[in-house]
Amino acid sequence: MPPSQDFTGDRWIAQIREHLRIADRAGLEWIARPARIREPARPNTDLDVATPASARPIPPLDVADRVAALASLDDEVKRCTRCEICHSRKQTVFGEGSPTARLVFVGEAPGFEEDRTGRPFVGPAGQLLTKMIEAIRLKREEVYIANVLKCRPPNNRTPEQSESDNCFPYLHAQIRTIRPEVICTLGAPAARAVLGLEKPVGQMRGRIFHFEDITVVPTYHPAYLLRNPADKVLVGKDLQVVAK
Ligand code: URA
Repeated sequence: MPPSQDFTGDRWIAQIREHLRIADRAGLEWIARPARIREPARPNTDLDVATPASARPIPPLDVADRVAALASLDDEVKRCTRCEICHSRKQTVFGEGSPTARLVFVGEAPGFEEDRTGRPFVGPAGQLLTKMIEAIRLKREEVYIANVLKCRPPNNRTPEQSESDNCFPYLHAQIRTIRPEVICTLGAPAARAVLGLEKPVGQMRGRIFHFEDITVVPTYHPAYLLRNPADKVLVGKDLQVVAK
């Protein structure tokens, strides 16, 4: 448990109530264990070997229910004051895309342009992400794009663990509502939040993991690729796995 979080007494109960309320609004029937006590996915070098799914199947929501659940969750996020960074945000950045997407991209946190516009991945890294999506013959509107954090950390610093923990229930509810077949995590903070793994991307990419019953393909963040264009080749390979 991070020392910055006081999970005792009333605050703890209030947090549980809040999480249950969000899950209920999203039409969810049960809550998974939080990321930090989730068993790490079994490392494997064979792309066909998967960690067994830990969740029992839940019935899919119809499109209208998904849209309503996501809108309600977005309202919840707009009012969220769980972390100090809520005070420096211009606005929250919930996520966007198809509520029935088969593929969800998870980034780290909004940057300057995202905080200004309220949309995920619209700055320089976002333009590269759009090209990555198009490289596998999909349109941006056909996938769903979200971040671990819904608020911009000051000066785009890396999210703190407590912020990631506070915000994860929102991402989890988005994933449970959309129920994609594949999640592509962009960068180490996204992989850490979804998989509970504290590893550099270089040690995770090239393998397949699972979050509940969803295939997870970790890859580099597009902002990293802007600084290290030679690694675009590796991301191209990861995207081929995603496309398959
Ligand atoms: N980087 C991210 O991780 N997310 C965004 O939305 C933009 C840049």
